[in-house]
Amino acid sequence: MRVLIVSDIHANLAALEAVIEDAAGRYDGVWCLGDTVGYGPEPDACVARVRAMAALTVIGNHDWAALGRMDVEDFNPEARRAVVWTRDHLSAESLAWLSELPSEPTQHERYTLTHASPRDPVWEYVLYPGVATENFGHFTTAFCLVGHTHVPALHILVDGETKARPMQPTFGQPMQLKPGWRGILNPGSVGQPRDNDRRAAYALLDTEAAIWEPRRVDYNVEVTQKRMRDAGLPERLINRLAFGW
Ligand SMILES: [Fe+2]
Repeated sequence: MRVLIVSDIHANLAALEAVIEDAAGRYDGVWCLGDTVGYGPEPDACVARVRAMAALTVIGNHDWAALGRMDVEDFNPEARRAVVWTRDHLSAESLAWLSELPSEPTQHERYTLTHASPRDPVWEYVLYPGVATENFGHFTTAFCLVGHTHVPALHILVDGETKARPMQPTFGQPMQLKPGWRGILNPGSVGQPRDNDRRAAYALLDTEAAIWEPRRVDYNVEVTQKRMRDAGLPERLINRLAFGW
């Protein structure tokens, strides 16, 4: 099966629509790695899209926060304002759907899906080889798909080695995941990239052939920024979209 992998949409509908258009005809199903809402101006519309198209979705820390399941004091002031705004702009139906999403890693064939890390599904950031290496003991499939960092990444544990290797994703180039490899794979963020590239990030995965293709697509950032400004969301969150940070 060819799967469109999306993560950290963060209520950015313009970015999500650009991804769907770019990926059109290249996938048979959709998996979502969480943080569908939070930060952006269209949480309800993004939930509706993901709900309609994704066969598998896990919960992210911002979804969790929107449900009121955690103390928003753990967020910085701008993120906190956005959480409260998001909570007020989700329908009862969307909140009910978010509340049903799994918070534990979800396994599908050779792949485990989780928002943050297999060891700590909602909070841990897998940014560096040391953390990645420690996490290989916390899932049993060959590959684990994560989001949360908003940075596209591949951490590969080659058979016989003890430390994960970071591999640079090359956008638009399919990459063969080799037999004997295990990996923690991050498609990056659709709606708020943090790798100094403002384009929406996502990945395509051929589950049987084990081919991972990281991709980027430009979208109209100004449209999302205007919608955020109209909604009264914090200026710093609006500005960062232009820089991919
Ligand atoms: Fe996120």
